[in-house]
Amino acid sequence: LPVRHEAEHAPATCDGSIDTNHSGYSGSGFCNTDNVTGAAARFTVEAGSTTRATLVIRYANGAAGSRPAELVVNGSAVEPVTFPPTGAWANWATATLTVPVHSGSNTLAIVATGPDGLPNIDYLELSTGNT
Ligand code: GCU
Ligand code: CA
Repeated sequence: LPVRHEAEHAPATCDGSIDTNHSGYSGSGFCNTDNVTGAAARFTVEAGSTTRATLVIRYANGAAGSRPAELVVNGSAVEPVTFPPTGAWANWATATLTVPVHSGSNTLAIVATGPDGLPNIDYLELSTGNT
């Protein structure tokens, strides 16, 4: 089963503010990063084994253009991810990718590679197939 990690819950961190001004988010808010290259939302996730896990990122991008990012796992950039516009800041969508994790605790960062920062990030869900 997927394990949900809310962007507003420590140990997650947000290079910006935890906001509540756009409806439809899960939990008590979402991460609005600063609109700069390198702004990140960081998470700590547990895995029961070394495997490739399915990662779902819930986000909203009410801007006109896609926002690019890099997924960084345990300090290594593993893959680019692009967040297309969702039409409005209260329209939430998911991006799904697979990521390598090791047994135990893993750090997972979504890092903006464009000057507009990340889309707003609601949560991520990780499925390792063995929970
Ligand atoms: C607006 C919006 C924010 C969003 C920002 C952005 O200010 O209200 O939630 O983060 O645009 O462009 O990143
Ligand atoms: Ca922002």
